[in-house]
Amino acid sequence: MRNIAVFGAGYIGLVTGACLAELGHTVTVRDIQPHRVESLRRGEVPIYEPGLSELLANNEDRLRFTLDAQEALQHAEIAYVCVDTPPTPSGDADLSRVWSVIDDLRNAPHLAAVVMKSTVPVGTGEQVQNAMTAAGLGHVGYASNPEFTAEGKAVHDFLHPDRIVIGTADPVAAELVASLHKGVDGPVQTMSIASAEMVKLASNALLATKITFTNEIAAVCEATGADVEEVAAAVGMDHRLGPHFLKAGLGYGGSCFPKDSRALRAMASNSGYPFQLLSAVIEVNDLQPRRAIARLKEQIGGLRGRRIALLGLTFKPGTDDMREAPSAIIAARLLSEGAQVTGWDPMAHPGAEAPWDQVERKSDVIDAVTDCDAAMVVTEWPELVDVDWAKAAQAMKNPLLFDGRNLLNRQDLVRYGFTCMGVGRITALPK
Ligand code: UDX
Repeated sequence: MRNIAVFGAGYIGLVTGACLAELGHTVTVRDIQPHRVESLRRGEVPIYEPGLSELLANNEDRLRFTLDAQEALQHAEIAYVCVDTPPTPSGDADLSRVWSVIDDLRNAPHLAAVVMKSTVPVGTGEQVQNAMTAAGLGHVGYASNPEFTAEGKAVHDFLHPDRIVIGTADPVAAELVASLHKGVDGPVQTMSIASAEMVKLASNALLATKITFTNEIAAVCEATGADVEEVAAAVGMDHRLGPHFLKAGLGYGGSCFPKDSRALRAMASNSGYPFQLLSAVIEVNDLQPRRAIARLKEQIGGLRGRRIALLGLTFKPGTDDMREAPSAIIAARLLSEGAQVTGWDPMAHPGAEAPWDQVERKSDVIDAVTDCDAAMVVTEWPELVDVDWAKAAQAMKNPLLFDGRNLLNRQDLVRYGFTCMGVGRITALPK
């Protein structure tokens, strides 16, 4: 079993640290935010991720949290870089946090390898290796080991991955990183550092493309009378295509797809190649929530003075993460059209900044839709299926439901008196 330092106590760092401890390693997680480290030391988990609190609690003997890089590195044989790489105004990835971790790699007498989990542009590993050599760390191996974990099932994805990608030029580092995953149920793919960096960006871009393709098919369905749910179900039965990521909706969000697709496009552009397909994906995704608002506006004849409920605010269910959530664009568009907006979500804690300062938050769905001219399902929280929709129809001023995730049973809704709009399907009128 190894001694490991994990830099970054965000979603990826905490899941990586907790899972490595679960596998039997001794882990010190270092973060630069004092309140984060203090709450982790008290046993409080600053993010919501199913299974994570239990894993941290079960392995507390093997887990430490610190603000001090030197403390984390004192006994560390392996250093994991799990810091965020947010987009800059040009769409490139901001690597300043990655570089500050690399700068911190001093006085680490036992360090044998640095493992990059943060999503970085292709070529970063080579630059990091050069910087490490210049800093007298030429003997330390380097490996790119991108994460493919989805929020909401990150612990499961870490312990049962489709593949473990290890990119390195150093066979000893490859062996060392592979050995850390003993007990993990998934095949190891070793390759060059550049290829590993590209696998992450390519995988996320292709997933985003599948979603966007379905959203475009949905737009054509709306115009022609086909139903995207029926279409996607049958398309996905072709084993060459697969059933995943064919769900039409209000566009992808979250911490990865929007950022990584822009980073890949910027990287391609910087090297002189215009990645046109990806540009189209990004553009269509930006348009997706706006198209929904335009359709709603047309259906109810203008939005000024209307009261609209947004049901679900997080970028997807099973998380409290609001990063790049379509709900923010939808709320801001509705407010700028002069509508009043109420919002319900079982997990989200949107900040006090716009548009959330003007959204009336309700803890009950019926309260959120009461006196509303329309309600919109923005996130497919399972709780919404169990709402008493007959009661909701009575409580609304105008029972119009825009199901932005095609979640609810339309036959029931039309029986209760709802007009049902959806993505990629024609509007169903009340019976
Ligand atoms: C994603 C990748 O799945 C993961 O491998 C990577 O490491 C990080 O990015 P995550 O952002 O947690 O993970 O969420 P995911 O479940 O993949 O969903 C991303 C977005 O796409 C969400 O906004 C979701 O609502 C949307 N989506 C997903 C669709 O609109 N339709 C689909 O069919 C699937």
